[in-house]
Amino acid sequence: MIINTARFVVSSPNLEKCPSDIRHEYAFIGRSNVGKSSLINMLTGQKDLAMTSSTPGKTMLINHFLVNDSWYIVDLPGYGFARRSKADRERLEKMIKSYILGRSRMTNLFLLIDSRHDPQRIDMEFMEWLGENGVPFSIVFTKMDKLSATAAKKQTANYCAKLLDIWEELPPVFRTSSQDRRGRDAILDYIEEMNRLPLLDSPDDLGE
Ligand code: GTP
Ligand code: MG
Repeated sequence: MIINTARFVVSSPNLEKCPSDIRHEYAFIGRSNVGKSSLINMLTGQKDLAMTSSTPGKTMLINHFLVNDSWYIVDLPGYGFARRSKADRERLEKMIKSYILGRSRMTNLFLLIDSRHDPQRIDMEFMEWLGENGVPFSIVFTKMDKLSATAAKKQTANYCAKLLDIWEELPPVFRTSSQDRRGRDAILDYIEEMNRLPLLDSPDDLGE
């Protein structure tokens, strides 16, 4: 898919304030600092569209970006950032979970995992929660450029093997780097395919 335009629309503090127009929507989630905002910039080809930072915990709101005037990318706050206050963490978790469960037009959730890491409990628990709630998701390994080609392949294959100890089958898996743009076409082609699906939108979907 060719990206012609991508623009920031709104930052929302909760589900109810999210845009009311019903379009396909793809959200990006993962631990703080995993590379969500950088990936969004890489996919849209705009360096400064989503705010990135080497300080974790930068994204605190639900950020909507309209792509090609037809579908949304959503940058969500990272989870599990230990240096946030307990109250902040609880507020963000509530916001993220109510968005994920309540926004039925959200066609797919991209769950980002740092390709250098072994499975972490917080990500495993989050995937379990997604599975229990029937949320469609894919796994995106990030920062593949930080490992040698061989190490990156081995590390991500090990990660997938460990997931298969728990899950019967793997969701779609993408291997990416925002630095060298690998994985871009695969993700955009996947989104293009899903954009053709009818929108599942229930009457109780809030934010309309
Ligand atoms: P929060 O919004 O704080 O949760 O972080 P985030 O997940 O949006 O991460 P962000 O995109 O801000 O990136 C965090 C840091 O990792 C930044 O310093 C980025 O430059 C760096 N980074 C992100 N993706 C890549 C990548 O693919 N390769 C390399 N080498 N660095 C990356
Ligand atoms: Mg961010």
